[in-house]
Amino acid sequence: MTAIAINLNGRRFEADVSPRTQLAELLRDKALLTGTHLGCEHGICGACTVLVDGAPARACITYAVACDGADVVTVEGLDDDPLAAELRAAFREQHALQCGFCTPGMLITARDIVARLPGADSDRIRLELAGNLCRCTGYLGVIQAVKQVVDARGEVAPLLPAERLGPVGARPCAQAVAPPTPIATTPETVAKVAPVPVASAPTDGPAPQHALARSLAVTAPVDAVWAQFADVVALSRCLPGAEFGAPDAQGVLHGRLHVKFGPVRAAFEASARQTTEPAERRGRLVGQGRDRLTGTRVTAEIAYALHAADADTRVDIEVRYGLSGRLAQFARGALAERFADRLTADFAYNLERLLAGAPPDATAPAADGLWARLLKWLRLSNT
Ligand code: FES
Ligand code: FES
Repeated sequence: MTAIAINLNGRRFEADVSPRTQLAELLRDKALLTGTHLGCEHGICGACTVLVDGAPARACITYAVACDGADVVTVEGLDDDPLAAELRAAFREQHALQCGFCTPGMLITARDIVARLPGADSDRIRLELAGNLCRCTGYLGVIQAVKQVVDARGEVAPLLPAERLGPVGARPCAQAVAPPTPIATTPETVAKVAPVPVASAPTDGPAPQHALARSLAVTAPVDAVWAQFADVVALSRCLPGAEFGAPDAQGVLHGRLHVKFGPVRAAFEASARQTTEPAERRGRLVGQGRDRLTGTRVTAEIAYALHAADADTRVDIEVRYGLSGRLAQFARGALAERFADRLTADFAYNLERLLAGAPPDATAPAADGLWARLLKWLRLSNT
């Protein structure tokens, strides 16, 4: 993880990010500025466009670490910007949006066009907007809205040099954006979960880049829960979709993790090794898996510690995981945090069934519908 600080909508914002963290991920998941939309995540659709050092940039293909020290302005940062206000009014008048998904990126780009190209005609506006895709409204209203603002401003000097585009971050921010309204988000929202020290990282597979920590309460004495944790094969059945056999001669567990995520189905061939410290009632599982169909690889390190809480037990679980391949896009922070909450609930439910002598319930009682499918994905990505 790397500590970075950016000037985000006029306020200093600090975060610890991994080398592969997208700027969009930082903005949405850590700064909670969800006005920056993610469509294609390949730099094609323009929904994620923000200003970096005054120039439009694709937040989906811009690494957050590359923005250390930069000025970043999102659509939220344009609330008090006069030019953006003119554009918002024109978008309304010209019916330039329908669902609005593309609109944040459209507004950022439109603002850049008006600032850079006074007097631009419709053809030039169309050309400049070519990198912003809209899937429901069409482009006529957007072009008319930008043209309306260009025409209303008349023959004025450009706010920004016409040749100013790219490479992003190569020049200081122009004085074109009005001071933004401070955002409510604070740096304290960053990195809720501290990285877990790793004693024995796997030698193969992607490096763990994401961290989660959860606690669950189990209504059973700590000794009984610890005894159950020692039977890791039985314990693995608390995660629906997991099938593990007894450890081999080297103490390595082998099995399969079945994933169903919407239309995506995957079966990870997985292996894991458990180490325990009985005196401390804590242990660690380090494992990895590979799905041949999607080419996705997962590495996970799960540390757990049991604590007596009156007659019950508190179980602290810390997970670090890394994904590579086609399914890696589902590992983003806020999404994973929500899944982890569900995972904790289901795991606790099944653990209590196990302790009561009942078989684990493979049908995920705490989840339903889409959440159930997403939860199953997280279960497996965390294992
Ligand atoms: S989400 Fe960034 S360009 Fe599509
Ligand atoms: S208004 Fe819906 S995608 Fe553009």
